[in-house]
Amino acid sequence: MEIKKICVLGAGLMGNGIAQVCAQAGYEVALRDIEQRFIDGGMNTIKKNLSRNVEKGKMAQDEMDAILGRLKPTLDLKEAAGDADLVVEVVIEVMDVKKKVYQELEEIVPDHCLFFSNTSGLSLTELASVTKRPDKFIGTHFFNPVPVMRLLEVIKAYETSEETLKTALEWGKKIGKETIVVNEAPAFAVNRVLCTMLNEAFFALGEGIASAEDIDKGMVLGCNHPIGPLALSDLVGNETLLRVVEGLHKELGDKYRPAPLLVQLVRAGRYGRKTGKGVYDYTK
Ligand code: CAA
Repeated sequence: MEIKKICVLGAGLMGNGIAQVCAQAGYEVALRDIEQRFIDGGMNTIKKNLSRNVEKGKMAQDEMDAILGRLKPTLDLKEAAGDADLVVEVVIEVMDVKKKVYQELEEIVPDHCLFFSNTSGLSLTELASVTKRPDKFIGTHFFNPVPVMRLLEVIKAYETSEETLKTALEWGKKIGKETIVVNEAPAFAVNRVLCTMLNEAFFALGEGIASAEDIDKGMVLGCNHPIGPLALSDLVGNETLLRVVEGLHKELGDKYRPAPLLVQLVRAGRYGRKTGKGVYDYTK
């Protein structure tokens, strides 16, 4: 199926990155959120990223202008999704909130429209079940920062058709990503491994095994990771990590118990870079 117009629902950390790479690939993109400040924040991040590329000589100014011209920020769901060939849903990771959004979308989108969800751990089969098009529903899981990370994890839900999978893989290629195909399972493939490791880093820190700086330094220098697990959790958002780990715990048992220190940081509102403080303090 040919995709021309894309609606990205959610202008936050992941949503604005997804909108950016889609517009860069030549798609018309409506970027929708529920409050003007989220839209403004998302558009400012995209402008900042593109300007940085222009300053570095990696992109011409008129190319940047053309990309921004293909992006339509809006608060209006009907305007954003009414004629979309594809909706990429990047709504908060709460099952009931996402289900409600899909039910609203069903009343708005054309019959041929595909639903791609960027959930990092919720059941795609359960989300798809509230729509009238579970065959046109698939998981497309991006990694942060979206414009930089090369992977797109494509996750098949129970009813996903081969045609939808093929379209998702072609789309991934067109927006410049390498793809892997994963069968639905709690947290899929990458987060099953990654988030378990990040959670373990919080156990190690909470048990006083080493300082945050030394745990991170150990993983960077000892394992060649580009960034330490605690710094990465601050980048992803500690509340996002906790939600994924809680999902693993619920579905797969005690081996995946969230680290008490991670729970405590989230209770303290220390989500990481986005709130200024997480494991580390970014306000100084
Ligand atoms: N947005 C866009 N571009 C960014 C960026 C951002 N937020 N942060 C950095 N970049 C770009 C920079 O502009 C720079 O581009 P050029 O090469 O064109 O100059 C490039 O990335 C490298 O950046 P820096 O030199 O500033 O910094 P760095 O070398 O330390 O790299 C990093 C930063 C790319 C984030 C690197 O630390 C890294 O790869 N970290 C690991 C990221 C990771 O594991 N992500 C997955 C998280 S898990 C997830 O997202 C899934 C989930 O569901 C939880």
